[in-house]
Amino acid sequence: MRNRRRKSNSKRGLDGTRILLIVTGGIAAYKSVFLVRLLKRSGAEVRVVMSEAATRFIAPLTFEVLSENPVSSDLFASRESPVVGHVELATWADRAIVAPATADFIAKAALGLADDLASTVFLAARCPRHFAPSMNTGMWKNPAVRRNIDTLQGDGCLFVDPGAGGLACGESGTGRMAEPETIVKAIETSLGPGELEGVRFLVTAGRTEESIDPVRYISNRSSGRMGFAIATEARRRGARVTLIHGPVDVPPPNADSIRRVTTAAEMKTAVRRAFPGCDVLVMAAAVADFTPVKRAGSKVKRNSGAVSIELKATGDILASLAEKKNKTQVVIGFALETENAEANVLKKIKAKRCDYMVLNMTGEGTGFSVPTNQVTIYRGPRKILSTSIVTKEEAASAILDRIASDGRIKQARQ
Ligand code: CTP
Repeated sequence: MRNRRRKSNSKRGLDGTRILLIVTGGIAAYKSVFLVRLLKRSGAEVRVVMSEAATRFIAPLTFEVLSENPVSSDLFASRESPVVGHVELATWADRAIVAPATADFIAKAALGLADDLASTVFLAARCPRHFAPSMNTGMWKNPAVRRNIDTLQGDGCLFVDPGAGGLACGESGTGRMAEPETIVKAIETSLGPGELEGVRFLVTAGRTEESIDPVRYISNRSSGRMGFAIATEARRRGARVTLIHGPVDVPPPNADSIRRVTTAAEMKTAVRRAFPGCDVLVMAAAVADFTPVKRAGSKVKRNSGAVSIELKATGDILASLAEKKNKTQVVIGFALETENAEANVLKKIKAKRCDYMVLNMTGEGTGFSVPTNQVTIYRGPRKILSTSIVTKEEAASAILDRIASDGRIKQARQ
């Protein structure tokens, strides 16, 4: 079957949220193994940093396998290692969670000490920070610990308080790290509604393939990464995303609804059907411009000598929808140019009558088949942003930052 429509099961949860989990040295570190599983199940991307003491309780490999990312514990690890540096980790995260948080780490954090990787990353993090303390009841009640917690709460840190029950030390009382489910809930609740909450995005991605015969086709080099990055970022900001994509080189992200198509004609039908129910259309797909007039029923043989294939233009999906959009809908096109970019893109914006056009050039580190891009955003004929060469995820974020301030999108929010 060529076309597949599937409804993604995952609800928004922590979809696309980048969580930095700092594991410090307590027996509850074993619970953080389950925490990583739940965070991943909720759609988060997880990176783990362990204190040296934590590595005595749980092997870093366990977190590496479950988080699907390298685990760091050494501030002075070789830069040749695949481990990301502490500043990169700190700026990468949307949320940091220290679980288990020992009394020792809480004291260090309250004082702003940075004498190992875990405390350094914590101190450098600019995102909201959570603690799930774990300690013996006496320590939990100790005025010094209480003072440190007050200090951190005063700094805006959020605490998921420990529960009561039997503790590893044999005593019974308060100090047991909160259950992983409670910690995930607390993070989800703290995220609140995103800036695109309730906005319905229709995003296209990838290329289309136009058959010449049963084994050959015309296509292009689009990998799908740019459209997928837009879909992920929109969802991360709370939008409901319908994703329609053609053949791609990377797996599609979670979306509220996903439809896979193959040809330009199939993409046109699918997009036209979904368009009335969307607030924002992002046409990031590289739709084939031409399709063979006739598709040979059997393989065209080489011994037939030189072959001419008659091509006809495909229907312009973007132009046809921009023409009939209502006043509240926002239509965003992408343009790929190899030369005379500015002149070509201005012509394209006028011809296609879309609200925004994102220009990308082909070149080293930008365009199709690479994970990075250099984009220039136009609102009508006005250039509103030009990025340097950045990852496609960063480009998606820059694009949505601009689009989010559009009055029509503000109105579409619930
Ligand atoms: N597009 C479309 N339908 C097509 C071809 C393109 O909707 N049949 C959309 C693309 O998804 C993109 C925009 O139009 O958002 C610009 O695509 P691009 O390939 O840059 O421009 P074309 O209109 O195809 O013009 P040309 O190839 O001549 O530059």
